[in-house]
Amino acid sequence: MARPVILLLSGPNLNLLGDREPEIYGTETLMDHVSAARDRAQEKGFDLEHVQSNHEGDLVDAIHAARKRVASIVINAGALTHYSWSLHDALSVYDGPVIELHLSDPKNREPWRHLSVIEPVAFSSVSGKGGAGYTEAIDIAINACNDGDA
Ligand code: DQA
Repeated sequence: MARPVILLLSGPNLNLLGDREPEIYGTETLMDHVSAARDRAQEKGFDLEHVQSNHEGDLVDAIHAARKRVASIVINAGALTHYSWSLHDALSVYDGPVIELHLSDPKNREPWRHLSVIEPVAFSSVSGKGGAGYTEAIDIAINACNDGDA
């Protein structure tokens, strides 16, 4: 039987991790985080798909394509976190647990980062843990899926 899939979504500017404000986001690249997340998912019997886009609509399309197919979504929406009601609405009609993820802790940064429009549709949020947040978010996603089966 095919293994269940976790979809990791990465929003705008996360493709620049490693170069981008390393004092805030660290020196690891996005691919470093994706491969740590994939290893953790595979250890626990899940596959991981990753989509990074700098375009809101691509992320909305990826969420639509995940419906009834993907067990859980882990999303670091980048700055879209703070204003993309279309991501909020797409996640609202997704049928599995959504884990919101951030490298930094937006609530301890500039005031415009304090609102998350993802949070109301998320099962759980992981923030401020740097790269370690990726594996933690995968663990939460898998536990939520497994609890759902119980
Ligand atoms: C981020 C936090 C956002 O406020 C910011 O716009 C990002 C990255 C994080 O991972 O800490 O692009 O989501």
